[in-house]
Amino acid sequence: MTPPTHLLESPTHLAAAVRWMTGSDVPAALYIEDMCHSDPWDSEGFQLAMRNGSSFAIAATHGRRLVGYLFFVTHGEGDLEVVNLTIHPDFQRQGIGAQLLDFLSETDPCLVWTVILETNVAAQYFFRDQGFRLARVVPDYNHGVRGYIMEKPVN
Ligand SMILES: CC(C)(COP(=O)(O)OP(=O)(O)OC[C@H]1O[C@@H](n2cnc3c(N)ncnc32)[C@H](O)[C@@H]1OP(=O)(O)O)[C@@H](O)C(=O)NCCC(=O)NCCS
Repeated sequence: MTPPTHLLESPTHLAAAVRWMTGSDVPAALYIEDMCHSDPWDSEGFQLAMRNGSSFAIAATHGRRLVGYLFFVTHGEGDLEVVNLTIHPDFQRQGIGAQLLDFLSETDPCLVWTVILETNVAAQYFFRDQGFRLARVVPDYNHGVRGYIMEKPVN
């Protein structure tokens, strides 16, 4: 897998650089995580995910500032799960989530999937807009809330 270092410029979207996440990004990621999630990952959660051999993290930066990140897990045979995609609230709706997701195609997956809580309507819209479709409903995914497995076959 080649490291992500591309830059996307668009008249309507913010230019963000995408690269591998490192340990030094974690404090800024924790700050974003706390703002965006009711059940945020803590420092240990980030470090564990970054040390896991089948887990990978990419970061979006604007200037030197971390503005978003995406964690994914490879399950083998091109099966790739997005486990955390989060964009700083000040930088949402500017195409950065889509840029992070686009980068995954460089890892040559066959299937990209994620689980979205039924209460997270914005994320459902986002993934639908990116070509994902509802594959299955998990009745009690998190404290009685249903989870929607959304997937996108690639190629
Ligand atoms: C969901 C999330 C990752 C989307 O990232 P983003 O950078 O804001 O999304 P983009 O700007 O790339 O959006 C692309 C398209 O997705 C859809 N979309 C994104 N956010 C949306 C929202 N709040 N409401 C409706 N549609 C939305 C739109 O179609 C959008 O295109 P448009 O802005 O031209 O209408 C971001 O809002 C976020 O971090 N949310 C909090 C954390 C979270 O819920 N993560 C997902 C579960 S881990």
